[in-house]
Amino acid sequence: MNYRHAYHAGNFADVLKHVVLVAALDRLTQKPAPLLYLDTHAGRARYPIAAIETQRAGEYRHGIARLLEAADAPPPVARYLALVRALGVEDGKLKAYPGSPALALAALRAGDRAALCELEPGEAAALRSELKREPRAQVHERDGFEALGALLPPPERRALVLIDPPYESPQEFERLADAVVEVHRRFATGSYAVWYPIKAGGGDTRFLQRLAASGVRRQLVVELTVERDDSPGGLNGAGLLLVNPPWQLDAELGAALPWLQARLAGPGRGRSRASWLVPE
Ligand SMILES: C[S@@+](CC[C@H](N)C(=O)[O-])C[C@H]1O[C@@H](n2cnc3c(N)ncnc32)[C@H](O)[C@@H]1O
Repeated sequence: MNYRHAYHAGNFADVLKHVVLVAALDRLTQKPAPLLYLDTHAGRARYPIAAIETQRAGEYRHGIARLLEAADAPPPVARYLALVRALGVEDGKLKAYPGSPALALAALRAGDRAALCELEPGEAAALRSELKREPRAQVHERDGFEALGALLPPPERRALVLIDPPYESPQEFERLADAVVEVHRRFATGSYAVWYPIKAGGGDTRFLQRLAASGVRRQLVVELTVERDDSPGGLNGAGLLLVNPPWQLDAELGAALPWLQARLAGPGRGRSRASWLVPE
């Protein structure tokens, strides 16, 4: 396991993922019943901007740094930016970029719960230390795919599951499609959000084809391509596959994507979409 998210924290792909995550949680928490947030690949919750890795790659400069000052962001982006400012800005400067556990906990209510899985011991220790005063969060130092089987369905019977693996091996896409189909079979009413990379030359379309043919209904695809890196394997875009997304999230994200695309890809560049892979 070589992957360290600190190199990528706050990049355009994190921005897309976290806008979608917060918007989905905001809609799911409108119902009074308690909710479980399960993060299968949680990372460390807080990424100091001054960290050597974050500065060396500098990816946040083409991501969160392009948006932070914006006053005209559409509602779901404005909400995400307010959370990033509250969690990471000090003295008017971005000191740390919040990871998915921190953003999710900021969006959850007092009676909700977060189960956060992180396999890499150093990252898990950092996550535990960051959340030591957070009674709603439980850190599990374990494989996130195994946790899907162990922790679902939850007693709450309501959950948003973020599946955000590092895609270090070519088998990850295959493992992922199988995992989504299997977990949906056991807990069909859960909401799932699966992040995936879109590499130079196009995404792994077999992953989406496999899910489209799986029989699972209500699958929404949200994608943003910035086309900045043409090197082989370079990250040119990112997507989220959402199973059972909350009501009207598709319209809300669809309306916000052109604004994000213009900021993150540059005027007249890139592509974006929020479209149903499999409808109702
Ligand atoms: C893309 S990062 C997570 C970013 C985080 N979800 C966020 O949005 O802030 C992927 C994380 O998964 C961890 N990881 C890798 N393999 C794992 C596995 N099999 N189970 C759980 N965590 C794993 C890595 O150490 C890394 O911290």
